Amino acid sequence: MAELISELRQGDCQEVLKDYPDNFFDLIITSPPYADRRKSTYGGISPNKYVAWFIERSEQFLRVLKPAGTFILNIKEKVENGERHTYVIELILAMRQQGWLWTEEFIWHKKNCHPGKWPNRFRDAWERCLQFNKSKKFTMYQENVMIPMGDWADKRLKKLGKNDIIRFNSQAKSGFGKNISNWIGRTMAYPTNVLYLPTETSNKNHSATFPKALPEWFVKLFTKEYDWILDPFVGSGTVVETAHELFRNSVGIDIIPEFIELAKTKVKKTEYCLFDSKIDYEKNKKD
Ligand SMILES: C[S@@+](CC[C@H](N)C(=O)[O-])C[C@H]1O[C@@H](n2cnc3c(N)ncnc32)[C@H](O)[C@@H]1O
Repeated sequence: MAELISELRQGDCQEVLKDYPDNFFDLIITSPPYADRRKSTYGGISPNKYVAWFIERSEQFLRVLKPAGTFILNIKEKVENGERHTYVIELILAMRQQGWLWTEEFIWHKKNCHPGKWPNRFRDAWERCLQFNKSKKFTMYQENVMIPMGDWADKRLKKLGKNDIIRFNSQAKSGFGKNISNWIGRTMAYPTNVLYLPTETSNKNHSATFPKALPEWFVKLFTKEYDWILDPFVGSGTVVETAHELFRNSVGIDIIPEFIELAKTKVKKTEYCLFDSKIDYEKNKKD
């Protein structure tokens, strides 16, 4: 069995990534510091400076991602003066200028959110997971995230109309079509782009962790065993831990030394972990 590697590096990802070659990672998945959040722990970036701050770092992400690789960015705009700030929208536009394709947007619906009361809005129960690519031909393993057909099949497939048993083309002339009867007898279906995942309530000694199920879903969708995954804002190490459990190599970077130590405790649990090992960069580029 090939050696599985987890590298955990302390520093600003913009600088640390300069040690890595072009076109190296298969998947980048991360949750960066949100604008003006958690100033006391790791310094918030003002919303008005956020795009410039991020773009300097995403230049490195673009360089180190393989041509068929994917970048998943978990982010959510804050409310400022009673309005949603537009920095996420501005960031998407700036990243497109930088050379990224904004290929998809997944919604992470936090299905266990507790209720709240605000005078002019309701509980914020979702976050964006933006997908960016370098090319329209990116690698995707859709079968890895299929879900049981469920009640939909029982109810819908028992009442087929005449347009359900032929390929029925979109009336909006989008070029898409569907034949509902193709799903008869199948047990598994493709999921939607809405992920219903609870937030994790266990205290991980980090105030902004995402649940393991979130990176797990994207790791399965976009990578195979022994591929390379990067989390440039690794925090408590959720992505590196998940990558290990799914037999993927990974690199995690965080500016705060304590978080790197915390992340190391996560992957030490697995038997294959080798910290700061010498990576055969040239071999990975050829694979
Ligand atoms: C939202 S948290 C990530 C949480 C992570 N997804 C988890 O599950 O634990 C963002 C992290 O980015 C780190 N960070 C902030 N600026 C950074 C930079 N320039 N380079 C690397 N890490 C940075 C912070 O220390 C923080 O741990």
